[in-house]
Amino acid sequence: MNKKTIHDVDVTGKRVLVRVDFNVPMEDGQITDDTRIRAVLPTIGYLTGQGAVVILCAHMGRPKGKRVPEESLKPAGDRLGQLIDAPVSFVDDCIGEPVAQTVAAASPGDIILLENTRFHPGEESKDEAEMLAFAEQLAAPADMYVNDAFGASHRKHASTYGVTKYLSPCVAGLLVEEEVTKLQRVVDAEREGFVAVLGGAKVKDKIGVVEALLPRVEHLLIGGAMAWAFFRAQGMEIGESLCSDESIEGAGKLLNSMAEYLDRMVLPVDVHMKKLATGETRYAPAGGLKPGWDALDIGPETREKYADTVRKAKTVFWNGPMGYFEEPPFDEGTLAVAEAMGECTGYNVVGGGDSVAAITQMGLAEQMDHVSTGGGASLEFIENGGSLPAVEALDGKG
Ligand code: 3PG
Repeated sequence: MNKKTIHDVDVTGKRVLVRVDFNVPMEDGQITDDTRIRAVLPTIGYLTGQGAVVILCAHMGRPKGKRVPEESLKPAGDRLGQLIDAPVSFVDDCIGEPVAQTVAAASPGDIILLENTRFHPGEESKDEAEMLAFAEQLAAPADMYVNDAFGASHRKHASTYGVTKYLSPCVAGLLVEEEVTKLQRVVDAEREGFVAVLGGAKVKDKIGVVEALLPRVEHLLIGGAMAWAFFRAQGMEIGESLCSDESIEGAGKLLNSMAEYLDRMVLPVDVHMKKLATGETRYAPAGGLKPGWDALDIGPETREKYADTVRKAKTVFWNGPMGYFEEPPFDEGTLAVAEAMGECTGYNVVGGGDSVAAITQMGLAEQMDHVSTGGGASLEFIENGGSLPAVEALDGKG
């Protein structure tokens, strides 16, 4: 990586503002997956070991500039404390006097977690002056900045980007270093044997990455509700299948703009569908969807075809489920891809979301070369050819 990391600067005794991604899934106030918290323990451990005062800041959910108690970071702080078996001082705000006082009273090696940065409108403000004014307040109690929030590094927000205007040095944490290094190998992969698998619902969010990937891959396998949008854009019947007008429009644009690469884009040849009126389920060829039926997964022939392509890949990048993964048996397509990822001996990387859940559910995470903590961030990294605003803002090496 061409950016400085915490290993390249002197952090001893410094008050370090560390942006982390603690945007973890919660149910009834309980954290259901703490992967993102565990992922930054090496950075926190290194900094505290050097006698730094670690001031963690992060976002949770999308409270849109207002205090939303359900989106407090307090549970994340409690979990962090359990994981490291050490106290974590939680401050009920991320700027102002309470933060200044807690930092002033801290000793070397102490860990402080600040409340959700998105409780303040300045965090995400499109008005640059407002965003920077908030960033300045956030930066005030610290001597330097570390970005270890890979999952939020595609956001040009006050805590991921703005603070770099007010603190020096600004360096990467160990998670950001690992993510960037491992995902860069996907960006640099040779076309021959490079397979990308994209799923999930919204074509709109993936147009850029499809455009970026098609010229670079041998095969781009499309599954999940994204596929139904492509069916519809080609004039096929999709019954009641999940598909927004926006997605159909996006798919149609892609079919036109990427015409020269369409032989690389692989769509499902069959689907697993459910009759809404009766709950009956059935497999059907891609062209066999009828009104009243809802496509919820790729079918068995597609499963086999996709799994076979993934197994043989030299490099494979996967983001997004192949169907309605939450409701078995419509998890079969996603699980088949997950299993094939495990069998692939090439360089295999999973980027975020339900595809990670599928890999974890099947106990295959250890067999991956990399499982990214960032869904949107890993897609944007690949789309941009290896750059993200919050990483670019850090100090360069040399
Ligand atoms: C994520 O969950 O992908 C990151 O934490 C970014 O969250 P956001 O999409 O709300 O910015």
